[in-house]
Amino acid sequence: VTRLVILGAGGHGRVIADVAERLGAFARIVFLDDRFPVLTQTGPWPVIGRIDSEEWPTSSEDKYIVAVGDATLRLILLEGLKRDGLPLVSVVHPFSSVSSHVKIGGGSVVLAGACINFGAVLGEGVIVNTGATVDHDCVLSDGVHICPGAHIAGEVVIGPRTWIGIGSAIKQCLNIGKDVTTGAGAVVIADVPDAVTVIGIPARIKV
Ligand SMILES: CC(C)(COP(=O)(O)OP(=O)(O)OC[C@H]1O[C@@H](n2cnc3c(N)ncnc32)[C@H](O)[C@@H]1OP(=O)(O)O)[C@@H](O)C(=O)NCCC(=O)NCCS
Repeated sequence: VTRLVILGAGGHGRVIADVAERLGAFARIVFLDDRFPVLTQTGPWPVIGRIDSEEWPTSSEDKYIVAVGDATLRLILLEGLKRDGLPLVSVVHPFSSVSSHVKIGGGSVVLAGACINFGAVLGEGVIVNTGATVDHDCVLSDGVHICPGAHIAGEVVIGPRTWIGIGSAIKQCLNIGKDVTTGAGAVVIADVPDAVTVIGIPARIKV
């Protein structure tokens, strides 16, 4: 019986569980979280152990996803799962629109109302959040988070762990570096270097 094990019992984890439940692909959904045993329940789902424990109370039929918001930690946990040979899943909401010519890496999540068009490539541990759009031929590297309602025009390349803030808009064909944050509502019309925060319209580096 396939069970989904979600690492991280916060709000994002509950959203993933909710989507997984709607997909009907898993007989049970359980969480691991370092607040166990104080935390034994998140929403209607049980928390059955800690992420940092030596032995997880899991079985060979289980499949895994990481629901940790911090992109660096999310990717570290995904690497650990892969190293241990544990199967990752990605979760795609049935009311999203994802071209069949899109590649989605393990441990990635596409939420309700999101739209991902032809030729886009998503790495591992990517989040395309509620109502976000990713247009043709975009490349979203490992750990990228496209927050709710953000829009990425065609052929944009986004580096690892970058966070595109809620309601941002990114012009076509741009290169956005790694570890970038775009502020809520930012309109990005030029390439962005690594590890900066940009805000405003047009987006400028926040000092
Ligand atoms: C950009 C951001 C990361 C900056 O956070 P911060 O470093 O804590 O910044 P502060 O709140 O201290 O604000 C610093 C200055 O930047 C301005 N600022 C902050 N966010 C801004 C934004 N999105 N657009 C324009 N200006 C912004 C503030 O008004 C403030 O200006 P001031 O110094 O003139 O008063 C944050 O405001 C933001 O937009 N986060 C995105 C949140 C999001 O997408 N959530 C989705 C969750 S799924």
